[in-house]
Amino acid sequence: MKFFIDTANLAQIKEANDLGILDGVTTNPSLMAKEGIKGTEAVMQHYKTICEIVPNGDISAEVISTDFDGIIAEGKKLAAIHKNIVVKVPMIKDGIKAIKWFTDNGIKTNCTLIFSAGQAILAAKAGATYVSPFIGRIDDSGWDGVDLIAQIANIYSIQGFKTEILAASIRNALHIIKCAEAGADVCTCPLDSILGLLKHPLTDIGLAKFLEDAKKFA
Ligand code: E4P
Repeated sequence: MKFFIDTANLAQIKEANDLGILDGVTTNPSLMAKEGIKGTEAVMQHYKTICEIVPNGDISAEVISTDFDGIIAEGKKLAAIHKNIVVKVPMIKDGIKAIKWFTDNGIKTNCTLIFSAGQAILAAKAGATYVSPFIGRIDDSGWDGVDLIAQIANIYSIQGFKTEILAASIRNALHIIKCAEAGADVCTCPLDSILGLLKHPLTDIGLAKFLEDAKKFA
């Protein structure tokens, strides 16, 4: 399973990349706004900087147009920033048409705001590189987000779809483990959730004891 970090914060992207286990980055308009990025030029420059920090990873950059022509024009500009840009397109009718166009023209896509298996089938039919089911938001609404990952994984396996399942809206370390079990190809996670995987009290207790005992022969 690939690990992406779900943020537009450059310090956090650097920290995750320094761990050596980072395969990419996802952003969205809310995450960009949180970093105080303003204006098209600044947004484009920010994506360029992210691509330079993670030179070998896929970097999702989301369009804000919702009509076919707008999505295509915006997606082309984003894709021109760097070879690793993945154009992130919302799961709407014009979005599906645009994903098909990008696929036919060799541009990678991430179909975002996926909340059902039907939407994931449509995105795969259009040739999306990734689909992003929003696990945490589904859990927040009283359904089980991980169940959707398992359902999509089963369908893609039966049907032979090549689209990768990118589990998004991850809230904690347990989500990552459950998504790995359910067949996600990628988890995009906040830094805290990735670092949460490191933690176990018995590791801390065990290390403290080893270091204490090591003083006896140091
Ligand atoms: C990433 O691709 C998604 O936009 C992101 O994971 C959504 O997360 P949220 O539900 O925490 O906003």
